[in-house]
Amino acid sequence: MTESPRSTTSTGSASSAGSAVRQPDPLVSVSGLAKSFGSNEVLRSIDFDVAPGSVNVLIGPSGSGKTTVLRSLNALDVADAGVVRIGDVEVDFGQRPVTKRQVATLRAQSGMVFQSHHLFPHLSVLENVTAGPVLAQRRNRPEAEAEARELLRLVGLEEKADAYPYQLSGGQQQRVGIARALAIRPQLMLFDEPTSALDPELVGEVLTVMKDLATQGWTMVVVTHEIRFARQVADQVLFMDGGVIVERGTADEVLTRPRTERARQFLHRILDPLD
Ligand SMILES: Nc1ncnc2c1ncn2[C@@H]1O[C@H](COP(=O)(O)OP(=O)(O)O)[C@@H](O)[C@H]1O
Ligand SMILES: [Mg+2]
Repeated sequence: MTESPRSTTSTGSASSAGSAVRQPDPLVSVSGLAKSFGSNEVLRSIDFDVAPGSVNVLIGPSGSGKTTVLRSLNALDVADAGVVRIGDVEVDFGQRPVTKRQVATLRAQSGMVFQSHHLFPHLSVLENVTAGPVLAQRRNRPEAEAEARELLRLVGLEEKADAYPYQLSGGQQQRVGIARALAIRPQLMLFDEPTSALDPELVGEVLTVMKDLATQGWTMVVVTHEIRFARQVADQVLFMDGGVIVERGTADEVLTRPRTERARQFLHRILDPLD
């Protein structure tokens, strides 16, 4: 069974002389992250920290750079500048060249769940979940399969191990996607609008699995428009617009009492689309 990462990170429980309990060291630190596509400056000096075991929700209008932040954490996009640290793996994108090895090492720290259509269509559910551990991480197949069955149980799909993606509903496919991302034993889980391509009645089953992961202590960065989910589970909410983080704070601070007009307008639009 995959260990909850909470057990492997420092708890930071030592308190310094008479003060409150010390905050744990961040699992993830991002500083000065910048990325352009041609002349389009998509990320402009993004800074944030992620505490171990915390749920971090990234919201903002379409095109604000949310996906690019996740892809930079997962090294699917190579940032132009800035430093990304996940656990004890740190890549300074300002130091060129960034090597393939650095990219691969950073990528291995996080599992990513995409909007849709990311399972291998020609592989069974079980093979989809074991592909990373067996092919990329060269782990022993019987052990990887046993762990994959555990993960499928975790997402409620133990009985679908031999099915193919086309035989599953969209919600089931997303749950397999979550099991597949967990299978590489990442330190961090990244979710890019994992429910936005689903029929409304299938959204809940995916959010329930994500809440279970949060309860188990997984560290998560989630891009989503599911504001109710964010209110229930987010420890930190980051509001992005135009490639910068405009507001950050607790769910209550950012979602209930936004300080900026941009955040207020955005929340108003997604909560009352017809207004
Ligand atoms: N591979 C790419 N090539 C060119 N432009 C891109 C690429 N990926 C993203 N962009 C541009 O970057 C901006 C931010 O995109 P994205 O990070 O996907 O925003 P969001 O996820 O907030 O909608 C958009 O203007 C988008 O068109
Ligand atoms: Mg996006």
